[in-house]
Amino acid sequence: MIEQGEFDFENRLVSPTEQPPDSTDDFEVGLRPKTLDEYIGQDSVKENIKICIEAAKQRGDALDHVLLYGPPGLGKTTLSMIIAHEMGVNIRTTSGPAIEKPGDLAALLTNLEKGDVLFIDEIHRLSRQVEEILYPALEDYALDIIMGKGPAARSIRIELNKFTLIGATTRSGQLSAPLRDRFGIIERLELYKPEQLADIIQRSAVILGVPCDLEGARELACRSRGTPRIANRMLRRTRDYAQIMGDGRITKDIARFALDRLEIDDLGLDKLDRRMLKMIINGYGGGPVGLQTLAAAIGEEAITLEDVCEPYLMQLGFISKTPRGRVATQLAYDHLGILRDGQTHL
Ligand code: ADE
Repeated sequence: MIEQGEFDFENRLVSPTEQPPDSTDDFEVGLRPKTLDEYIGQDSVKENIKICIEAAKQRGDALDHVLLYGPPGLGKTTLSMIIAHEMGVNIRTTSGPAIEKPGDLAALLTNLEKGDVLFIDEIHRLSRQVEEILYPALEDYALDIIMGKGPAARSIRIELNKFTLIGATTRSGQLSAPLRDRFGIIERLELYKPEQLADIIQRSAVILGVPCDLEGARELACRSRGTPRIANRMLRRTRDYAQIMGDGRITKDIARFALDRLEIDDLGLDKLDRRMLKMIINGYGGGPVGLQTLAAAIGEEAITLEDVCEPYLMQLGFISKTPRGRVATQLAYDHLGILRDGQTHL
């Protein structure tokens, strides 16, 4: 039986990985836009997908297979649901690690109706065995099943309905070349700009029925490290502060107060980001230092640093990647108020 995706339930407020909602309301799901027009940002991805959807619909065909990649929390699942909605088809969602055996995938594929979307999150984590039965499914809409063993083994071909695979991954580099080649549409999602995040926060605030002024939304947006999932999570936490400490409205002051209490700084860096930067600077003279060494030194998983901390620290220009490891830039020193060796305060 295929279960819904396995998620990393770490509790970091600025973690872009999905977390269980605080209360019983399905917070994130409730805020998801349902159409491309409602979806804010990622303009070029939206444009490209819109054209492909229109064309497929005109032809009465299934949409080509889609690969969405980019840092976590940017809306890959949401976009997949929108695609299915715009195509007027059903979507089945699962994840790479949840598909343990070829039979699990076969069960999913044989249950798809014509044109349906199969969404596989973390598609880079599919096993090779599973990947192999996916190839003919993607190309010929057929499953080749081997029955029996040894000389008596026979291969049976099961025809499938034409479907669309949407694969999502944070690490497109880890996808095997044959799998990557089978996607007709490959789109990279980028971190959002603060103005786009402010729009998303205001939209979410309306849905949640929380008054939030533009300045309040901007304050949250600047500290959401380019990620709607973090922006919406911060909105929810700030709503609590507004309710208890203020008059229920999210203003710039309330947002600042809440985020300072949560130890998220002006640029959205949390304790882990700052620990990472400080370790590069104080522990390794500003770098270069290898990712594994750095991860061991601060007691974190290398993958967390790479997927969660680095994309934003690099976007801010706080670290750079060199062949010999990570290096902290002058901007990082300035942000943390640390002087380089030999420099003195004027
Ligand atoms: N909620 C989360 N991501 C969103 C987006 N890109 N547009 C609108 N609302 C969102």
